[in-house]
Amino acid sequence: MAGRILIIGACGQIGTELTLKLREIHGNDQVIASDIREGAQELMESGPFELLNATDEPHIREVIAKYEVKEVYLMAAMLSATGEKAPMKAWNLNMDSLFHILHLGKEGIIDKIFWPSSIAVFGPTTPKNDTPQITAMEPTTVYGISKQTGERWCEYFHRKFGVDVRSIRYPGIISYKTLPGGGTTDYAIEIFHEALKNSEYTSFLAKDAALPMMYMDDAIKATVDIMEAPAEKVKVRSSYNLSAISFTPEILAEEIKKHISDFKIYYDPDFRQSIAESWPSSIDDSAAREDWGWKHEFDLEKMTSTMLEGVEKTLKENAK
Ligand SMILES: NC(=O)c1ccc[n+]([C@@H]2O[C@H](COP(=O)([O-])OP(=O)(O)OC[C@H]3O[C@@H](n4cnc5c(N)ncnc54)[C@H](O)[C@@H]3O)[C@@H](O)[C@H]2O)c1
Repeated sequence: MAGRILIIGACGQIGTELTLKLREIHGNDQVIASDIREGAQELMESGPFELLNATDEPHIREVIAKYEVKEVYLMAAMLSATGEKAPMKAWNLNMDSLFHILHLGKEGIIDKIFWPSSIAVFGPTTPKNDTPQITAMEPTTVYGISKQTGERWCEYFHRKFGVDVRSIRYPGIISYKTLPGGGTTDYAIEIFHEALKNSEYTSFLAKDAALPMMYMDDAIKATVDIMEAPAEKVKVRSSYNLSAISFTPEILAEEIKKHISDFKIYYDPDFRQSIAESWPSSIDDSAAREDWGWKHEFDLEKMTSTMLEGVEKTLKENAK
């Protein structure tokens, strides 16, 4: 391929698995991982790694020149629950890092950008069920405000300067290889660890808090698919709605009980419940399906059995 790929925030929940998938597709040396901290052994040992702060523009430019990078995946961000504890820090990280990368696109130094948005762009005035692609967006978290603003800037840089920036609004992402980074949907990962360790879990969301979710493999597939799609097929240049599964803590607990019959769930909602209440329960992603052929593979049953197997394996390896 012409030019290499740089992933910023590569050691996080999504970045780790995305880096490994892109290395599998393009070759280990073609994909440069970077983060402010070191990550999982497999990621660190499988290809190049740079310690890089997403807000340090001169250093980003240096790394891009060093490796002749042409494609950037900007995964560094402060997420919804953590962002509420440090609003200005979240805003500065989420916005500054995006501007640095958009300007590199505008200057023609890089050819293609992936920047993830989130269901957090929606708010209490958004229709809750089958949320449309274009709808009311009045986010109430600093994270959601930063993602909504980011979407507007992505579209602006595309329209005004022809920057090839592509984006999807990830729902809650469920995975077992890397722990989640402080989001409102993290309960749907913790529950598997606690079910296998203690046969019980206390959810920080209420039992009927329905949220859109997706298994990691589907999220990675969507990311690869939108980046590989011909430019003219990517018609939405703010960010695409993306959907797979929608469930409540109670429904997920019932599914887990099919595998662990004595599993018990308790509820003790905290500040994250009000964030969850402001988000959609399910998403209409027909634009992504029509424009670039998005299709999910993991339903609730398949996701649950894959998670239980994966977490069990991880717990056994950690115990060795
Ligand atoms: N995980 C989800 O459920 C979810 C849902 C919607 C959107 N997203 C978005 O996807 C992207 C990746 O999310 P994630 O879940 O992997 O997050 P994460 O918190 O697990 O990972 C983020 C990574 O960024 C790194 N980072 C933090 N500050 C940095 C800085 N200044 N410079 C460089 N790296 C820095 C962290 O060390 C971490 O490894 C984010 O933009 C997030 O908003 C995630």
